[in-house]
Amino acid sequence: MKLNIALLAGDGIGPEVIEQAVKVCEVIATKYNHEINWNPALAGAAAIEDCGDPYPDSTHKICKSSDAILFGAIGHPKYDNDPTAKVRPEQGLLKMRKKLGLFANVRPTFTFPSLLDKSPLKRERIEGVDFVILRELISGIYFGEKGRRDNGDTAFDTCVYTKSEVQRIAKKGFELAMMRSKKLCCVDKANVMETSRLWRETIQAMEKDYPEVKVSYEFVDAVAMRLIQWPHSYDVLVTENLFGDFLTDEASVISGSMGLMPSASIGSDIGLFEPIHGSYPQAAGLNIANPMAAVLSAAMMFESFGLTKESDAIRKVVNKALEEGIVTVDLAFGGESYGTKEVGTWLAENV
Ligand code: IPM
Ligand code: MN
Repeated sequence: MKLNIALLAGDGIGPEVIEQAVKVCEVIATKYNHEINWNPALAGAAAIEDCGDPYPDSTHKICKSSDAILFGAIGHPKYDNDPTAKVRPEQGLLKMRKKLGLFANVRPTFTFPSLLDKSPLKRERIEGVDFVILRELISGIYFGEKGRRDNGDTAFDTCVYTKSEVQRIAKKGFELAMMRSKKLCCVDKANVMETSRLWRETIQAMEKDYPEVKVSYEFVDAVAMRLIQWPHSYDVLVTENLFGDFLTDEASVISGSMGLMPSASIGSDIGLFEPIHGSYPQAAGLNIANPMAAVLSAAMMFESFGLTKESDAIRKVVNKALEEGIVTVDLAFGGESYGTKEVGTWLAENV
């Protein structure tokens, strides 16, 4: 297969972890007879420095003409510590998601056998956990009207959802549930928020179209607790943008590290594959960041093209590295650790 991949390394540790993912993809391409054409483009703080726009049109053009996007991370402390900054790197990611129509963010949570005893959670709670959080990605409070009034002393962010926005993400949730264990949990705050009541009534009305799916409705605060305490009770969870952002970071603890968790953003014919972690600026350039989330995001990318042998091979080699202790410091738990590049090279050589 010939693949055109837009490569958006972004900021902080983005370039380092993406470099490792590319190394692994190249080996896979050679082994399975694919040809990958990488199209690098700027995004985030790097793009602001270059042209003042965190997601410039030139980058959008490259994304639009590619088959998929492999993305590193976005964010820079220069902007985090300056609340008055007019342009922020994160706006680039949001603009990209919106302009590409990527309304569904798929964040799987699973465990790695070799990490079970190293988790802050008890083995029996997490062994065999396998659920997916489906996060709505281009609406809600992230995109509603926001601003200041009263000379800047009052600030507001508005959470807005339309019925059709809820329907399209819920449809994905039902479809995913049908492919898995036919259980769907809708996470909301319907006891307080009007948007959540719209979510609940919309999804309730869709239940009749999927009679085999058992749907539950739970409040997000309770889910935040149960997800850690009884992760086995979940299979597919569907939720709005901000709740999904929080819950997916929380869920990464079950797997063992933020540095392990990949994600796919879908909705149009061009998928975006990215680690759930941020740009981790404190680690940038130090060769200590975990490249596995980026590598596993590449696995999700191959899977999206129906190339499951390729994605399985990548997942297998990551598991092998974990078993053999070829890990970065976040997973070394005081033992021996390897650099970002060394882990990447090991994965590429062993895949
Ligand atoms: C994520 C990130 C982003 C988000 C940030 C960087 C804008 O935290 O992908 O989860 O909040 O969506
Ligand atoms: Mn997040």
